[in-house]
Amino acid sequence: MTTEEMQKKIEKVFSERFGGKGNIYASAGRINLIGEHTDYNGGFVFPGAIDKVIMAEVRPNGLDIVRVFSIDIDQYCEFGLNEEDAPKESWARYIFGICREIQKRGGDVKGFDAVFAGNVPLGAGLSSSAALESCFAFALNDLYNGNNIDKFELARIGQSTEHNYCGVNCGIMDQFASVFGRKGNLMRLDCRSMEFEYFPFSPENYRLVLVDSRVKHELADSPYNKRRESCERVAKRLGIETLRDATMEALNKIKTDITAEDFFRAKFVIEEKERVLAVCDALNAGDYETVGRKMYETHAGLSKDYEVSCEELDFLNDVAKELGVTGSRIMGGGFGGCTINLLPNDLHDKFVKEVTARFNEKYGHEPKIYDVVISDGARLVEESPKE
Ligand code: GLA
Repeated sequence: MTTEEMQKKIEKVFSERFGGKGNIYASAGRINLIGEHTDYNGGFVFPGAIDKVIMAEVRPNGLDIVRVFSIDIDQYCEFGLNEEDAPKESWARYIFGICREIQKRGGDVKGFDAVFAGNVPLGAGLSSSAALESCFAFALNDLYNGNNIDKFELARIGQSTEHNYCGVNCGIMDQFASVFGRKGNLMRLDCRSMEFEYFPFSPENYRLVLVDSRVKHELADSPYNKRRESCERVAKRLGIETLRDATMEALNKIKTDITAEDFFRAKFVIEEKERVLAVCDALNAGDYETVGRKMYETHAGLSKDYEVSCEELDFLNDVAKELGVTGSRIMGGGFGGCTINLLPNDLHDKFVKEVTARFNEKYGHEPKIYDVVISDGARLVEESPKE
């Protein structure tokens, strides 16, 4: 469904369910060029928002309950705004969490009606959940808080929602990208200082393509939180706040005091930090071959040391390499989802055809292919006409 079609659908359903019109808001899914599992270690990430969004029509209802309908799941849910009112439906908990996290920070939220839908593929590692959180955080900031909550806080509200209502101890990357995304730009974020810069990304001869293995990716109760715990254990052992400050030299010194598993997790994080910086230099020099090489290194690290890959993703990585793709790696938390591929324009059609056929032959289903269009993040799409 295109974003325009989706908006029409949302407007139709909203007027049928609630009558009239509300404001339309949207926020985006994200890609990440490099810098994986570094955000919660105080390191660097390199994400950008994409042209796939969660969109919602939202209007205050003058009550103290939220009434919300999800078009994609075809479910309706109602909940109050006190802690004990948490809904059971996992999709509604994201919205409830946003309301509560705004309230906990002293912000205002009252009852509203909403209808939403999305074209960010679910479980593909493109952060549909961050898009949902950012869309509602942005909307409630606009409707009830005079846009006084700053954008970093909006991202943190989304992150805290994951921590406190959805069971995922994620870092800040996804919500940051979804809130701050800007058309045509990637962003390098230092997750310790939260300083960032926009990085125009429109290489003349290369493009980014995602290959979605359609292997389900579920971060709650998943080994994701365990990875984070490993990193925190090693940081503690090294007497530092996060692995941002760790070196391989220091890690090697404590090698015999920690488990092999923790050692390899920390090794990956330390190496990944260096890779992000190397990729920035390479991008500044227009050296896409180096960018690609670093992406392959990240994949190897994520697969062997961090162990967040799976057979299908390793297969996609091997096929990419064989077909001459410049860079390819798992993207996002891992355990399924997409690979991100950097490739010369003239390889695009051949790559898409071959990777689709070969994956289908081996796993009995075709992967989905998404051409990356780097787009804007959270926004007001359309204001309802004033009565
Ligand atoms: C998930 C998390 C992010 C980040 C990535 C891995 O997307 O939500 O915070 O840790 O995994 O880089």
